[in-house]
Amino acid sequence: MRLTDDEKAMLDGAEGPAVAAAMDLLVRYGEALDAERLCDTRNVAGTTTQPSPAKARLVAEGGWNRAFSVLSLDSDETLDIPDMKVPTCQLQQGFGPDSVGIAPYPREFVELQTQAEAFAGRRGVNILATCTPYQVGNLPVRGEHCAWMESSAVVYCNSVLGARTNCEGGASTGAASLTGKIPYWGNHCPENRFGTHLVRVEERVTSFLDWGLLGYFTGDLVQEGRPVVTGDLDRPDLVDLKHFGAASASSGGVEMYHIPGVTPEAPSLKEAFGGRRVPEPLVYGAAERRAVYETLNNQGTRTDVDFVLLGCPHASVDQIRAAARALEGRRLHSGTQLWIMAPRALKDVADRSGYTAVIEAAGGRVLVDSCPAMSRSAPPGTRVFATDSAKQAHYLPAILGIEAWFGTLEDCIDAAVTGRWGGELR
Ligand code: F3S
Repeated sequence: MRLTDDEKAMLDGAEGPAVAAAMDLLVRYGEALDAERLCDTRNVAGTTTQPSPAKARLVAEGGWNRAFSVLSLDSDETLDIPDMKVPTCQLQQGFGPDSVGIAPYPREFVELQTQAEAFAGRRGVNILATCTPYQVGNLPVRGEHCAWMESSAVVYCNSVLGARTNCEGGASTGAASLTGKIPYWGNHCPENRFGTHLVRVEERVTSFLDWGLLGYFTGDLVQEGRPVVTGDLDRPDLVDLKHFGAASASSGGVEMYHIPGVTPEAPSLKEAFGGRRVPEPLVYGAAERRAVYETLNNQGTRTDVDFVLLGCPHASVDQIRAAARALEGRRLHSGTQLWIMAPRALKDVADRSGYTAVIEAAGGRVLVDSCPAMSRSAPPGTRVFATDSAKQAHYLPAILGIEAWFGTLEDCIDAAVTGRWGGELR
């Protein structure tokens, strides 16, 4: 790998041992990928503060410097961790102190995370604590090189914002934070950003549910490909694209897609494919739509619903408002709980706008920082849950061993109020 003079200096220790370890990690990582060089980044999104048993053990052994050195720099030595060199934010993490008594999350992890936030915050990590940093102020510009983790955030960053990131890990984001560098490969290279598959929609996609179904269909077919989606589509908004990308990154490994006329690197179909031959289309029609819906709903047999989960990826203010409107004047079933996951900064807006009060008056909760999949935590005794998120319907049954129903926001709120699932595809 070719290194610039400033990169060589960092590797040789000019900025201290932690930065040297970070550069060593990036060189090893880049060489394993056959990257010829590094590129500059000033936008890192990682998961430094997320608690885990391994982190608890390392902190007990040698404090937070030890945990960061091993887990975020892949170093055997305990290094003094300096300030982050470039803007860095924390993605989702575990549940915090305000979820105690609601989410059954280990108290020792709540305490560990509080300490982690203090350690990371002192060094310049912005504790956004959400899988949707783009909803709360971290909006990279088109073409900007980023180092982000979290599949739903990565696909949004590449596709909707036109910024450039691979799906990084805890160690590479830690090293990028301290150096402002990341290997130049994959989605950073313009030639790797053109479409590989064409999806032609023949059954009109109009709703949040529809965008999730289409995303799940697309990811399953193209896996790590870069789909170009055309056809009978209503114009999507942030929330629709957030759901589409998260679903496609769950059933497959989509990190980038194009919708000609909507996403920034695809003004036209031709440009979406970079002038290359347009492949034969994969057709999404009424039969495909129904088949995806049935796949997501074949994980439920019991119709008694214990738990309703909204906000995956973390909810926008408008999604919280829509849930509040659907709950206005209603009360949750005595055996059913409702959690809406949101970024903390947006919960503040929901609080001030009166939406949280309506949700809580009905018996629901707006929770922040985390989600049941990340924290492996759902209301005690949950056997069956319902969600409007294709991603949670995909992952949570396996993570928590529970049954799932997938449907619209209205289906989910009805289930929360009646305690029974009655959703169907319309
Ligand atoms: Fe976010 Fe959790 Fe979903 S981290 S994308 S709410 S699985």
